[in-house]
Amino acid sequence: MEFERALAEVESTFEQRLAAASRDAEVEELRIAYLGRSGELTLMRRGIGKLPAGERPAAGQRINAVADRMELRLASALETLRAHGLEQALHERVDATFPAQARHGSIHPIRRTLEDICNFFERRGYGVVVGPEVETEYHNFDALNIPPDHPAREGFDSFYLPGGLLLRTHTSPMQVRTMQAHQPPLAIVTPGRCYRRDALDARHSFAFHQVEGLVVAEGITMAHLKGTMEAMCRALFGPAQRVRFRPSYFPFTEPSAEVDTTCPGCRGLGCRTCSGSGWLEIGGSGMVHPNVFREVGYDPERVTGWAFGLGPERIAMVRHGIDDIRTFVENEPAFLEQF
Ligand code: PHE
Repeated sequence: MEFERALAEVESTFEQRLAAASRDAEVEELRIAYLGRSGELTLMRRGIGKLPAGERPAAGQRINAVADRMELRLASALETLRAHGLEQALHERVDATFPAQARHGSIHPIRRTLEDICNFFERRGYGVVVGPEVETEYHNFDALNIPPDHPAREGFDSFYLPGGLLLRTHTSPMQVRTMQAHQPPLAIVTPGRCYRRDALDARHSFAFHQVEGLVVAEGITMAHLKGTMEAMCRALFGPAQRVRFRPSYFPFTEPSAEVDTTCPGCRGLGCRTCSGSGWLEIGGSGMVHPNVFREVGYDPERVTGWAFGLGPERIAMVRHGIDDIRTFVENEPAFLEQF
């Protein structure tokens, strides 16, 4: 009878505690406290051995019956809580006239320019790919026809890392990576951050962005490059935009050209932004050098291609009339909120 009383006691405390439970988690806690591996009922089952042998089977059955009831009670408690929650949700009042919260944050002008450039090309079937900011000297220089003793290597003022690595000085290593991974024909753009050991001033930063473009196929000419640059500038700045090529030099292109576009500030008339010339430089470009093709296993007798590297900081400054490159990274709310 001692056992009967103890069992009844356990069940009635369980009932009281269950009645007080107001959350799913509390119901689960009770399940563990009573039916779990070291729960109350389990302890009582272990105590059966101490009873006279004749009473043991009945005691076992009594415990099982209590356990079954508890299971049912726990399940129905959970059910009730769930129904109650639903009921409350249904009665929650929504005030449709309550003013919405003001939108915080805006798209950074550099990101917007990167997206605009990439979207222009994506709509025309180019792939958009991104590459590593920590590069090998091989991809950043050697494979781009810039051997170790080449003066252009010095000109880049790189941030070197141990083990033949560096922070990429341009996005051109992605030309190499893309051509090594894919056979021609191909057309890609690849945006990303680049680094050079430049002193910070209104027009230079040690961390900046580039958007590289690369097209390789049979019969690709510099006329395609110029037409593409022109279409892109018109999409970015407006329909009257013109493009001019100025002869230049890059080890990985031949011939090479700087890409200038009509200064949108003065529409080509000459102003402070363009130092009176009416033109603004937005990037470098050229026909992919045969040595680069050979390095990646392409046949320069069969395919030709062009590449460009644009400066989105430059483009964003011109588009939005920003005169200091440092404002892009100072993150002044008053500056950022304008975009
Ligand atoms: N990588 C060159 C630079 O950073 C730009 C460029 C890219 C030139 C592709 C030609 C072709 O100055």
